This record gives sequence, structure tokens and C-alpha cells, in this order.
Amino acid sequence: MEYKPTIDRRGFIKRLGALVAMRWTRHRTALETATASLKQLAAEKGLLFGSCLALKYCVQSAAYQQLFLSQCDIATPELHMKWNSLSSQPGVYDFENADKFVAFCITNRIKVRGHTLVWHDALPAWVAPQLTAETGPAMMTGHIRKVAGHFAGKLYSWDVVNEVLDPGSHRPDGLRKTPWLQKCGTSYIELAFRETAAADPNALLVWNENYLEVSNGFGHAKRTAMLALLDGMLARGVPIHGIGIEAHLRGDQAAVLGDESYEAFLGELARRGMKIFITELDVQDLTLPADVETRDRAVADIYSRFLVASLRQPAVKGIVTWGLADCFTWIAGYRPRQDGLPVRPLPFDANCQPKGAYFAIAQTLRSARLRQQERS
Ligand code: XIL
Repeated sequence: MEYKPTIDRRGFIKRLGALVAMRWTRHRTALETATASLKQLAAEKGLLFGSCLALKYCVQSAAYQQLFLSQCDIATPELHMKWNSLSSQPGVYDFENADKFVAFCITNRIKVRGHTLVWHDALPAWVAPQLTAETGPAMMTGHIRKVAGHFAGKLYSWDVVNEVLDPGSHRPDGLRKTPWLQKCGTSYIELAFRETAAADPNALLVWNENYLEVSNGFGHAKRTAMLALLDGMLARGVPIHGIGIEAHLRGDQAAVLGDESYEAFLGELARRGMKIFITELDVQDLTLPADVETRDRAVADIYSRFLVASLRQPAVKGIVTWGLADCFTWIAGYRPRQDGLPVRPLPFDANCQPKGAYFAIAQTLRSARLRQQERS
């Protein structure tokens, strides 16, 4: 039988051309997918996505600034609004850097999470010697009025109190023994919320807390304490609108992250009318193998496990990572690796290129359910 080609020469070249074009389109789609903006993927589901930022990172790296602007529609000042950044002498405030931060965000249509008004950490040295049971409440409310008043109308939200629970303080109410608790009494939290509401009536008022996401004895104790304290305060009409889940996660915590008890806890917060934000997400890799591929995969798995469970809850409205790229991360100082290798806790590597954690976040956003768009 005579061999009959099914396609002539011209047809063949045409088909080849089409094939090359298809391959190229696929390749391009893959590239675009790789760099798809997380804020865009989040917005498609009615979510916010962002990171913390210190202005010096943008000064040090134009690439980082570009990455930040392409990925974030919400940002937290990593340092600029903490008490010790604002005031080095009693009663004297310098808002220059914090104002620059806010202006940068407003210019680029990025929402700002004010962080943070009442914390036991990052206090200027002059506070402790002045703090007594007599001066305590006025010092705290004076600070809130000054700072929240200064930014009134410009911020999306305030972390009014930060890390106020600590099972290690061994109190029945679960509160951390801080100078504020010791000098102002247990009502300092509600006083802080009421003062902030008066100073900036438009900001969403958030209680930001660590280790709520960890399903072990410590995490369970924090969750129980938070719900009991919330119930009391909400019954007294305290203006608390949201809960911040910090989520400084660890690479070896897969077994205690994202389980049913965590989802049930988020449900309890939602039932109480709370908006929920993931506020300081990163993954410590100090106990993971040195091999970069293995390490990145384990870190990405933690991101996935945690975010899939978190995003199942519609009251979760936004995700903020504690840095975007491994070149600027507090983990390098806070939880360095014993072998001296650079840490890799964030979605982008030190050259601002996407890595496993980025793809994990993108994927969880793509499969997240649609929620109502957050107010602007
Ligand atoms: C950290 C910053 O990232 C560091 O640069 C600084 O030295 C210490 O504070 N919980 C919080 C954040 O609420 O404000 C902390 O940020 C990390 C833990």
C-alpha cells in the first residue's frame, strides 16, 4: 500500500508553528502563574494579603520595594509605631518615620494595620521607672490618645493590645503578668479598647495574640482564656472587632497545626462576631534539614496546612506575613540555624524570587472560598 502522508509540507509547518505557539503560551502562563500577585489572588476571594515592612528595606533594595508593591494591599509597620520607636524621652513623640510609612502606604493604596498600642515589649527605657499604680492608667491612656489620635482616620485597623495572654504566668484568667496588668489591674485591656475607639472611631480594633494557632496544651489554654475574657468584655460592650492570630510557625509543628480544634476555635471567634486576621505569618526552619529543596518543601507544607484550615473559616479576612523575602526577616536574629545557613522562612527567597511557600500560599488562595469584600 502506498504511503500517504496525512499532512502536506505547508500544513506541517503550520502545525509546527501552532505547536510552538502553544508551548510558548503554556510556558508564559507558567511564568505568569509563578509571579501572580498574592494580593490579586486574595482579592479575587474577598481577602486581603500583605506583609510587615520597615522603610529601611525599601531603601536597601529597590527589588524588595517592587516586590512589596506587587504583592501587598495591606501592611503592618514592623517597628515604626511601637512605643520605643515613637518616643525616646518622657512624653516626647517623633512621628516622622511612622508618618512616612503611612504616606507610602496611602500613596500606593495599601491599607495600614497600626501595630501596636499596648504591649509589654518594645517599651522605651523611661517607661518602667515612671510606672506606678497611680500613674499607670493615665500613662497608658495618654499614649493611646496621642498615637491613635495622631493617625485617626488613616489606618485600617489597630492592634490595640498585643500578646496579653500567657499560661506561663499561672493566673486563672490566663493573663500575662505585664507591667500594665500589674499597675493598671485586669481592666487595662478593656480600658485600652475603649480609649482607642474614642481616639480613632473608624479603625477596626484588634486583639493580637501569639500561639493561638498551636493545638497543644499551651495553645488550648490560650484559646480558653481568650474566649472567656472576650465573653466578659463583649457583654460589657467593649469595642473589640477582631482577633489577630500571629502565626509565627515552626517547621516541626505539622502535627499541631490546622487540626479540628483550631478550626473549632476560629468558629467560636466568628460566632462572637470577630473578624479574624492572620497577622505575622512566617515559618522557622531551624530544625529542618540543611538541603534547600527539602527544607523549602517542609516550610511550604506548614504554610499549606495552616492556611487551608484558616481559610475554611469565612471570618478570616486577611493574611499578613512577617516579611516577604528571606533577605529581610527577624527570624535570622530570633531563630537562627545552628549550622549557620541562611534561614528561609518567607514566601520569596533572598533574591525576591518565589519559592515553595509562595506557591503554597497562592494555591490555598486559589482554592479558598469567596467571602464578602472587606471595606476599604
Ligand atoms: C519583631 C520585629 O520583627 C523585630 O524586628 C523586633 O526586633 C522585635 O519585634 N510579635 C510581634 C511583633 O507582635 O511586633 C514582633 O516583631 C514579633 C513578635
